[in-house]
Amino acid sequence: MSDTVQKNLNYKKYVIDSRLQYFKPHSTKIEKSFAEDISSSLIDDSKFINPKYFYDKKGSELFEKICTLPEYYPTRTEISILKNLQDELPNYIDHTFRLVELGSGASIKTRLLLDIFTSIQKKIEYFPIDISEILTESSELLLKDYDNLHITGIIDTYEGGLEFLKTYDDKKNLIIFLGSSFGNFTPKDGHRFLQKIHSTMKSDDLFLIGLDLVKDKEILESAYDDSQGITAKFNLNVLSRINDELDADFDLDNFSHHAVYNDKDQRIEMYLQSLVNQSVIISKSNLTLHLEKDELIHTEYSHKYRLTQIQDFLTKTGFKIKHTWLDDKKHFSLTLVSKN
Ligand code: TRP
Repeated sequence: MSDTVQKNLNYKKYVIDSRLQYFKPHSTKIEKSFAEDISSSLIDDSKFINPKYFYDKKGSELFEKICTLPEYYPTRTEISILKNLQDELPNYIDHTFRLVELGSGASIKTRLLLDIFTSIQKKIEYFPIDISEILTESSELLLKDYDNLHITGIIDTYEGGLEFLKTYDDKKNLIIFLGSSFGNFTPKDGHRFLQKIHSTMKSDDLFLIGLDLVKDKEILESAYDDSQGITAKFNLNVLSRINDELDADFDLDNFSHHAVYNDKDQRIEMYLQSLVNQSVIISKSNLTLHLEKDELIHTEYSHKYRLTQIQDFLTKTGFKIKHTWLDDKKHFSLTLVSKN
């Protein structure tokens, strides 16, 4: 048994080859919390499904599709900013950094960062952290294109992965959290999450966060309710996942996708709306769910920010802001911070 495994007893280590390995917590832990989470969040009057459950294999595939939709501006805008970082990011990192990504990618965004690392390092280390097993497939795609790349995937929650990283070794980390995924937390959970990142970072680590900015309501609402209905499929897919993994009998035809911008709280709110009075059995959660016609199950928030708010909450957590990059239209932002 290697040192790493001894230090991380909750994880099983899978070595695929000399350039790819991954760690995964013993599976019972994940299954149990999914069933429990669902039963506790659907039992109240205001019903909720945690959006982290969107991203099973099918959900991750649908999300990749969302990212290419004409209405969904965040992905292409963030990519345009990342392209402009090619010259500037090397001012902040050197050959002793590895790339750590919260939410895995084989996407163009990850590649743009790997390109930056390639320009300053002979051997690149990349640690994707994701609860979805899609991580293994996307890793293989990256290895094909980057000869000097070594990947250690962590199939776990972001919090679990960050704790794992803290005790793993002494190498410096550039932790990236893109796609405005942070906006999917409630403000309270977001604050806790930033504290977690701050506390698991070593003194020389850096953190790069992509955040969506406040803009016209029409642009926002069509980004989350596209004309091809892909976002609707993505939202509904979480019910299929509950059917498959928790032995439930949701009829997807009895639900519709509902997305609306809440000005006051600066967020898109996403719901699954029950189209009829219905009862649904979720066996592994020991739950029979009663829904009335028009009743909403809340699935996602996507918060939008003003630049002053971003600076405010990052500095309040203790981070020091190094730089913020924007696109021409000021639709999206990338902010680099250090621990102190
Ligand atoms: N982080 C993405 C965002 O807030 C997630 C997302 C995009 C999403 N479209 C969605 C989540 C539709 C649920 C449904 O933009």
